[in-house]
Amino acid sequence: MSSLTALVTGGAGLLGQYLNRALAERFHVVSWYHAHPRDAADYDGEPVDFNEESSIEEAFERATPDVVVHTAAISSVGAAETQPRRYVYDVNVRATERLALLCELNGARMIYTSTDLVYAGDRGSFLDESSKISPLSIYAETKYMGEEKIRRTVEDRLVLRLALLYGFGLGETTCHFETMYQALREGERPKLFTDQWRTPLALHDAARMIAELAANSEATGKTINLGGKERLSRYELGERLCDIADLNADLLDPTRMNDVPDLPQVADVSMSIEALRSLGVEPKSVEESIRDILGNNY
Ligand SMILES: NC(=O)c1ccc[n+]([C@@H]2O[C@H](COP(=O)([O-])OP(=O)(O)OC[C@H]3O[C@@H](n4cnc5c(N)ncnc54)[C@H](OP(=O)(O)O)[C@@H]3O)[C@@H](O)[C@H]2O)c1
Repeated sequence: MSSLTALVTGGAGLLGQYLNRALAERFHVVSWYHAHPRDAADYDGEPVDFNEESSIEEAFERATPDVVVHTAAISSVGAAETQPRRYVYDVNVRATERLALLCELNGARMIYTSTDLVYAGDRGSFLDESSKISPLSIYAETKYMGEEKIRRTVEDRLVLRLALLYGFGLGETTCHFETMYQALREGERPKLFTDQWRTPLALHDAARMIAELAANSEATGKTINLGGKERLSRYELGERLCDIADLNADLLDPTRMNDVPDLPQVADVSMSIEALRSLGVEPKSVEESIRDILGNNY
């Protein structure tokens, strides 16, 4: 292990807990959490509230990171709608800017986990990083504002636009994929969109690639897509799961985005990963990833 320190914010979150593990293969990891320590407790965990600037600064001084992987956020479209706007802005934008400034002042590299949802969903498939930006939700808008703050503040930065993540949650976290898997095993009918296109990426594979990028000093000053290789709807992801896990695909309940009231209509935010590949980083296929997940190989 190197003597460099990687700080993970949101270290008890869905992705954060995978990042703790993946980064620990290359770095000494310090993991910040919010309400619950979960697995972050095993990685020099410390509670840090992103709503309190002094808390961020004091904990940063203690951590003395060489690289910061910033995942802490009000992290979904639904969650951002239910919280006061000011709070979402403070956590997703203001705290991100504060952290960016601390990185710049202290010579730390900053890696930021943005989202595919910053793109307009009506521009076709496999969007590259120069594609039109048009966030349709408060979540996506504040994530994009976080990107902009980082681009303006930190020289040694990597802004990653993450695709829809899937897998099994560690330490009491869970996600749509696990809910779908459990429903199918219990003979229930999960509702899945047929008309929204993403390039889904397994959680463990996202963490593996982010750890590779964190250790690659040439991956700097860039904004790049971090997604899977295949363009799939959630329904098609369900079909792949049924095929591999020998579950009953007749239970999958096809649903249209249009049928869900007040949902931002993001039809196609599938992403090109050519810029990622140019850094020598390659995602696993959906089939290999699902086999890893079902075989506890993560
Ligand atoms: N999951 C996806 O499919 C996906 C796709 C694209 C991009 N992303 C991005 O990837 C990152 C990680 O996503 P995720 O799915 O792992 O989300 P997550 O499980 O919700 O993790 C985010 C973490 O941020 C923490 N947090 C929230 N408010 C905070 C505050 N005031 N102070 C400190 N920490 C706070 C949360 O802690 P508490 O729960 O204890 O409040 C949570 O552990 C996010 O930035 C998200 O925007 C995710």
